[in-house]
Amino acid sequence: MKVCTSVSEFIKLRKAGSLGRIGFVPTMGALHIGHGSLIERSVKESDTTILSIYVNPTQFDNVDDLANYPDKNSADLELAESLNVDVVLMPTYEQLYPDHYRYSVDENKFSQQLCGAHRQGHFTGVLTVVMKLLNIVRPSSAYFGEKDQQQLRLIEGMVDSFFLDCQVIGCDTVRDDDGLALSSRNLNLTVEQRRKAPVFSKALTMLLNDDEVASSLSDDGFKVDYIQTIGNRRYGAVFLGQVRLIDNVELNGGLIKCGVNEVAQ
Ligand code: PAJ
Repeated sequence: MKVCTSVSEFIKLRKAGSLGRIGFVPTMGALHIGHGSLIERSVKESDTTILSIYVNPTQFDNVDDLANYPDKNSADLELAESLNVDVVLMPTYEQLYPDHYRYSVDENKFSQQLCGAHRQGHFTGVLTVVMKLLNIVRPSSAYFGEKDQQQLRLIEGMVDSFFLDCQVIGCDTVRDDDGLALSSRNLNLTVEQRRKAPVFSKALTMLLNDDEVASSLSDDGFKVDYIQTIGNRRYGAVFLGQVRLIDNVELNGGLIKCGVNEVAQ
């Protein structure tokens, strides 16, 4: 497995080699088996799998969240190697943002809702760094998790809108046995918070409307950012202490048909 800590070194490698069909998995590190599932799929479907590990500061709206983002570089590289990643790209801010973020990619509709309504500039940061990474890596396919459904939909839209020659592949959310969606931020939960966290994922599937789900979570000690159903999917974001958890579930026909959720169509 080759580790590239420089963008120019990576571009040289890409231009020199015959990498065949490239599968790309962008991440911010602190890898878990949710990331692993994206990597496995890429390895299965591609000649070369490239993983990027980069904690992108432009998508953080809160300096403490950025400072506390877990960092596990050597464990990440071990996991990547064990899953047969071919190249890991670990760029620096200076390399990725030679323009010091003068240029960015904006979406002005869906990015304003859900997480976008609560995290100023978040999706502009995400779309900008993903655009940069896709242009550097030039993959045939790029793999993203349904766990971050809004992000996945926005990236699909960006790839279509800018005619990028890349297939965006959405991968199912990987959960712990108790239903909590795996997330790098789960590492920052205390034992007590981790015990309580799965209540959030379960609440999203409850036969209650969004407001009722939100108030039930507040009663359970979560600070609710939003609970909102759009179409047949319910999205949520909550805080447990300083740790922000997000999740989304598809609502089944029964729940929609029985009219419990007024927003669902
Ligand atoms: P990160 O949170 O590290 O996630 C990297 C990828 O792993 C994303 O596509 C995310 O949806 C996916 N993922 C995370 N947890 C998952 C789970 N439990 N099951 C399945 N997939 C999961 O998302 C980002 O990084 C960044 O915003 C990034 C796209 C890299 C841009 O900086």
